[in-house]
Amino acid sequence: MESIISFSTQIHFNYLGYEALESHLKTSNYSSIFILVDENTKEHCLPIFLASLGRNYNIEIIEISSGEINKSIATCLKVWEELSKKGADRQSLLINLGGGVITDLGGFVASTYRRGIDFINIPTSLLAMVDASVGGKTGVDMGMLKNQIGVINQPNMVLIIPKFLNTLDNRQLNSGFAEMLKHGLITSEPFWRVLKQVDSVDQLEEHIYESILIKNEIVRQDPREKSLRKILNFGHTLGHAIETYFLENTERESLLHGEAIAIGMILEGYLSHQQTGLGINQLEDIKKTICKHFKQVDFEDKDIHAIIDLLKYDKKNSHGSIYFVLLKRIGEAQIDNRVPDDILSQAFSYYKE
Ligand code: GLY
Repeated sequence: MESIISFSTQIHFNYLGYEALESHLKTSNYSSIFILVDENTKEHCLPIFLASLGRNYNIEIIEISSGEINKSIATCLKVWEELSKKGADRQSLLINLGGGVITDLGGFVASTYRRGIDFINIPTSLLAMVDASVGGKTGVDMGMLKNQIGVINQPNMVLIIPKFLNTLDNRQLNSGFAEMLKHGLITSEPFWRVLKQVDSVDQLEEHIYESILIKNEIVRQDPREKSLRKILNFGHTLGHAIETYFLENTERESLLHGEAIAIGMILEGYLSHQQTGLGINQLEDIKKTICKHFKQVDFEDKDIHAIIDLLKYDKKNSHGSIYFVLLKRIGEAQIDNRVPDDILSQAFSYYKE
């Protein structure tokens, strides 16, 4: 797979990635190199990564605990302190080896430590490969509110090593698959049709490149999310509220990000049918395809009310209103749509049918 070069970021795949990294390290003359991991990537991915480097570098490891709950400013403080204690200066490099929590948090730590040091993302989850690691969104949650604090700052390099996917279970792979399906829904009907044929998430490796190309092209045109980039939020307005609700609600098993987004895409598909002309056959196609991979979640009336209440805190709100990305058809999205409240609850009824 050919490398993708845009802005100051280079995205490299497989062995070309290691070559590009080594040549970058050779020419950049970093004063010190740090790798940020969690307990899982330390055990399963770090040994593979280190063994694949052509020579021994003097590398310090910084470990944080896995999980969205740790994507917080408190964790950043620990990493900033550790960088400082270990002598990181402005010429240091931080390599983020992990899923979306590591790449988001590590990117933010690097962007703010000493007013910004270089960082490289090496995503180890499918979700981070096709979404979080590309595009420069960095940051942390504030309490239960996702991604409230952060900056947009492009990594110097992203390395996609599909071998790391072997360390994931199907639930984790599915979570990333939701974002790939989204890329088809918002920009490319042909890609959607290809993904629809996927029976098992073990078959996804060959489609990662296309997914990253789609995301990267959107980000290239609108890095700061002034307009076009908003289409990447399809399924996320309701999806984030659902994710937050399940995270807060101790009686319910929490959902992975992609699982919540998958539900959000069915709901926002319904809104699209009502508001922006998405045909009923395409809506049914979206629901059927998503339900083939994601088990249906029960929503009682009290859950639905609480989720709709949570929407008003969603980060995509602007000027006090809730705006949705909706589909005109599969492959074409429209930003900045307002939706009446009663259609929101109807969308849940459609999901439950
Ligand atoms: N995850 C959506 C974006 O990067 O804009």
